[in-house]
Amino acid sequence: METQNKIALVTGGSRGLGKNAALKIAAKGIGVIVTYQSKKEEAEDTVNEIKQFGVQAAALQLNVADTKTFDAFFVEVKTILKSVFDAEKFDFLINNAGIGIHASFAETTEEQFDTLVNIQFKGAFFLTQKALSLLNDGGGIINISTGLARFALPGYAAYASMKGAMETLTRYQAKELGSRGIKANIVAPGAIETDFGGGVVRDNEQVNAGIASNTALGRVGLPDDIGGVVAFLCTEDARWINAQRIEASGGMFL
Ligand SMILES: NC(=O)c1ccc[n+]([C@@H]2O[C@H](COP(=O)([O-])OP(=O)(O)OC[C@H]3O[C@@H](n4cnc5c(N)ncnc54)[C@H](OP(=O)(O)O)[C@@H]3O)[C@@H](O)[C@H]2O)c1
Repeated sequence: METQNKIALVTGGSRGLGKNAALKIAAKGIGVIVTYQSKKEEAEDTVNEIKQFGVQAAALQLNVADTKTFDAFFVEVKTILKSVFDAEKFDFLINNAGIGIHASFAETTEEQFDTLVNIQFKGAFFLTQKALSLLNDGGGIINISTGLARFALPGYAAYASMKGAMETLTRYQAKELGSRGIKANIVAPGAIETDFGGGVVRDNEQVNAGIASNTALGRVGLPDDIGGVVAFLCTEDARWINAQRIEASGGMFL
């Protein structure tokens, strides 16, 4: 298989979209390192599920908001690559870890803004920069945006702006890393039923129905709707897709 001996690093792989992407990537025969922030047991469950696909897997703790820890994190990654995967480098970085904060533009505090920017933009920016020396030429970066960067819903000014910044960054990464054969793309999910934002999309019937009625395919998204898109971008079939924003929203707010 062309994906054999490839390795992906998925941030926020303990649950939600990151976990789903990690499993779909593993199903393609690609080894996976997942990171978690606080949910170690969930990350270990993910690792055990990944191994059922016959590939190697490992979990590492990482707070993407804490850039000072990134050097030490990549020392750990290097050790794990050697000990678990018998490899020096990895092939795909999936910048998925993230949180949402719901606040109107008028009421967003500086503290909320800083929390979001540190996780959603600064963290992904510098984590990827520090990953470059461990990323194989010919590999890929897959960032995660949101439908909210295309359409505007009240309450997401700061969050969606940072995802918009990630979309711009993705094009710069593609431009500057293309000489190494490294592709950069960004997947933009619509509203998906996960723990995200306190699980509001999944647990609040009114919100769920409202989104479904504004989605061409008539329902809210599930993690299973997204992971396969990320996994596809890790395959040879996707080798010519570069610098793209790929929305997977079932057709939200068309
Ligand atoms: N769900 C949606 O509707 C939706 C739509 C569009 C885009 N997205 C984006 O998709 C990504 C994943 O969201 P999700 O729905 O899967 O959320 P989720 O179910 O809440 O999972 C969040 C994941 O990110 C990790 N994480 C959170 N803060 C972190 C930090 N500071 N450092 C490192 N890891 C951190 C969590 O780790 P622990 O488990 O250890 O806490 C967890 O693995 C996010 O970037 C989000 O913005 C989500």
